[in-house]
Amino acid sequence: MNKLLLIGPPGAGKGTQADLICDSLDIPKISTGDMLRAAIASGNDLGQRVSGIMKSGGLVSDQIIIELILDRISQPDCASGFLFDGGIRTVGQADLCVENNIEFTHVIEINVDNEIIINRMSGRRVHPGSGRNYHLVHQPPKNEGMDDVTGEPLIQREDDLPETVKHRLDVYHEETKPLVDYYELQSSQSSLNYIRVDGSQDVKVVFEEIKKHF
Ligand code: AP5
Repeated sequence: MNKLLLIGPPGAGKGTQADLICDSLDIPKISTGDMLRAAIASGNDLGQRVSGIMKSGGLVSDQIIIELILDRISQPDCASGFLFDGGIRTVGQADLCVENNIEFTHVIEINVDNEIIINRMSGRRVHPGSGRNYHLVHQPPKNEGMDDVTGEPLIQREDDLPETVKHRLDVYHEETKPLVDYYELQSSQSSLNYIRVDGSQDVKVVFEEIKKHF
C-alpha cells in the first residue's frame, strides 16, 4: 500500500505532481490547503477561524490540521493508500501523525529556489472546485481562463500576492524545512523511502523522476 507525503516550499509543484501521481497510482489526493480553502468558501466555523491566517500566509494550528487529516483518512477511499499534498508542515504535526498511527511509505521532497517560486506564483491560476493548478506560461489551460475538465473559470489565489509568497517562503524555511532532517532520519531507521527531486525541471521530467520509485 502506498502512503505518500509530498513536502516542499510553496510553489514547488506539490499540487501539480500530486495530481499526476494520484492518477498513476490510483490513490486519493489529500490537500489540507484545498480542504481549508473549501471551509473558508463555505463560511463554516472552521473557515472563519482559519481565514485570516491563510490570507497572511501563516500556518494553521497543528491541532486543527491533525483533526482534518484523521477525519479525511478514515473515509473509505483512503483504505488502500493516499497522498498528502503538503499536509504535514511542522515537526509537531509529524509527531501527531506518529501518535495517531499515521505512517508514510514514501516522503517526496520537491526542491525549488525562491526566485523561481516567486515567478511561478504570479502566473498560477487555480480551479477552486478541484484544486487543479495551471500556469499562464508553463502549464496553460486549453481555453484561456477555463478549467480543462469542467470549463469553469480559473481564479488567482489570495495568498499568491508577492509579499505574501515571500512570507510563506520564510514560514516554510522556519517551520517545515526541519521535516527534511526528521524524515531522512526516520528513513535511515525504518522502511520509509525518502525521495528528493529537483522541482525546477519541466513538469513531465519531475514526474518521470518520481515515477522511477514506484
Ligand atoms: P497549500 O494550498 O498547500 O499551499 P502551499 O504548500 O503553499 O503550496 P502551493 O499550493 O502554493 O504550491 P504547490 O507546491 O502545490 O505548487 P503548484 O503545483 O500549485 O496551503 C495553503 C495554506 O494553507 C498555507 O499557507 C497554510 O496557511 C494552510 N495550510 C495547509 N496545510 C497546512 C498544514 N499542514 N499546517 C498548517 N497550515 C496549513 O505549482 C505552483 C505553480 O507553478 C502552478 O502555477 C504550476 O502550474 C506551476 N508549476 C508547477 N510545477 C512546475 C514546473 N515543474 N515548471 C514550471 N511551472 C510549474
